[in-house]
Amino acid sequence: MNEAAAAPPATDTVGPFTLTPLPYAEDALAPVISRKTVALHYGEHHRTYVEKLNDLVKGTEFARMPLDEIVKRTAAIAARAAIFNNAGQAWNHHFYWRSLAPKGGRPGEELRKRLDRDLGGYDAFAEAFTKTATAQFGSGWVWLVFDGGTLKIVTTSNADSPMARGITSLLTVDVWEHAYYLDYRNRREEHVREVVDQLLNWEFAAQNFGAG
Ligand code: FE2
Repeated sequence: MNEAAAAPPATDTVGPFTLTPLPYAEDALAPVISRKTVALHYGEHHRTYVEKLNDLVKGTEFARMPLDEIVKRTAAIAARAAIFNNAGQAWNHHFYWRSLAPKGGRPGEELRKRLDRDLGGYDAFAEAFTKTATAQFGSGWVWLVFDGGTLKIVTTSNADSPMARGITSLLTVDVWEHAYYLDYRNRREEHVREVVDQLLNWEFAAQNFGAG
């Protein structure tokens, strides 16, 4: 098991929240995702969500709450949209970095069988995941989830996630433009196809599946 798979999401920590270290070097995902993109995405975008969240929860009931709990509790409350957006993005990005690995590989036996049963096999999954990500209008995320006893591919907009509704996620890919624009310009489909083929962390997926 590699280091990325061994690191569980930091959902049991309470604020003030910290930007947890990447589970690999900034250039470890190249050439699929360049060092420059990771530096901007992690060091600027992700960092800013965490810093804004800490500012927003200071002195509130959310200040000493686990991150996933904040997301669930603010998901449907318009007056808490700023906290939800920053908490959601902090959680999503933490999960995203761990959904990737420098040498992604392919699913292990248990998930491969599940993919056969629920999504028509690995190749059909890879195609559907890429197409679903490409069809997501605007900013958002594509997820492999385990919901109701079945693997499914879903998307969410902006800072939303299946976790906000208590659904188990196995993997995600960020489809906000900041995730790929420097390397792929507007070619989201090409980016996601490369990520699926080379970077998905199936050990992390198996870990989440086991916990779901
Ligand atoms: Fe992002």
